[in-house]
Amino acid sequence: MTTQISQKLLAWYSAHARVLPWRALPGERAPDPYRVWLSEVMLQQTTVAAVKPYFAKFTETWPTFEALASAPEEDVMAAWAGLGYYSRARNLVKCAQRLSELGGFPKTEADLRELPGLGAYTSAAIAAIAFGERAVVVDANVERVVSRLFQIEEPLPASRKEIRAHADTITPSERAGDFAQAMMDLGATICTARDPKCLLCPLMDSCKARGAGDPARYPVKAPKKPKPVRQGRAFWIERDGAVWLVRREGTGMLGGMRSLPDDGWSAKGDGAGDAPLDGEWQALGLVRHTFTHFALEMSVERLASDTPPKGAGEWWPLEEIKEAGLPTLFAKAAGLALAETAD
Ligand code: ADE
Ligand code: SF4
Repeated sequence: MTTQISQKLLAWYSAHARVLPWRALPGERAPDPYRVWLSEVMLQQTTVAAVKPYFAKFTETWPTFEALASAPEEDVMAAWAGLGYYSRARNLVKCAQRLSELGGFPKTEADLRELPGLGAYTSAAIAAIAFGERAVVVDANVERVVSRLFQIEEPLPASRKEIRAHADTITPSERAGDFAQAMMDLGATICTARDPKCLLCPLMDSCKARGAGDPARYPVKAPKKPKPVRQGRAFWIERDGAVWLVRREGTGMLGGMRSLPDDGWSAKGDGAGDAPLDGEWQALGLVRHTFTHFALEMSVERLASDTPPKGAGEWWPLEEIKEAGLPTLFAKAAGLALAETAD
């Protein structure tokens, strides 16, 4: 029964695999590990549609890991702007540098796991897709499909172990990379979260949740605690068609990214932070953004000033604001300020 599942799924994949820029077609030679690695890092927490333009830009600018290893970190951070989870971009550069030292990609799941930024999912995905190793690859799509196939009643996240054990039983020793990507494609196109299209599913006959009549009930999820809301302030300081931008410190929240000066909400978030210059600050409105552990309400405030605040930064021309590589939160703040300026 478990080999039947993999055989049916692989046959379906041979006919219906999505054509994606980082993939080889079923039966073709395995794709370049650099492209597999880059795409898998980008695809964590991010949809295929959102990743495509970034993948195109990265592979054009840095066609090999050697090229990426010698790129200035600021350039990579700016190119990543908008994809979110910026520690992925910092780790990308570190990992490329490590790959240069090693002279190439390690070929096993265990050795891949030692690279900077590679977790259980990414190591397994690269081992299976680029090197054909039989690795058990579990992302959110796979969790959904497996929890339905085996009608797992225990809620996520506690059910992760059980899901993984079931995924292991259906993973074939041949074509493990195709199998992993077939599970992802099935989850993305047929076994979708709200509206599984069971009548089109190659696994319909083996699926317990479908047999029980309400597959959309799975995966059962533990109720989520609401995220705490933090308050912050961002400062739009303008002079002669330019705005003052800074680079954020460190490796924490948005660390290494270019941004507007702010009141330090990422550390405190109590809305009490001071403005970097004295003056009549004009309130432009609020922008909201959700991070992993909290939601942020950030007021955007404007001041015209010929002198910049203390500390490092640069006057950035307003017409080129799109090229600044602002993360989404600050791109929203800039949008607000520029809309006001246009009025
Ligand atoms: N999501 C994560 N990795 C993927 C892949 N290789 N193909 C499609 N969707 C994915
Ligand atoms: Fe998902 Fe339905 Fe297929 Fe089961 S039969 S795996 S619920 S699409």
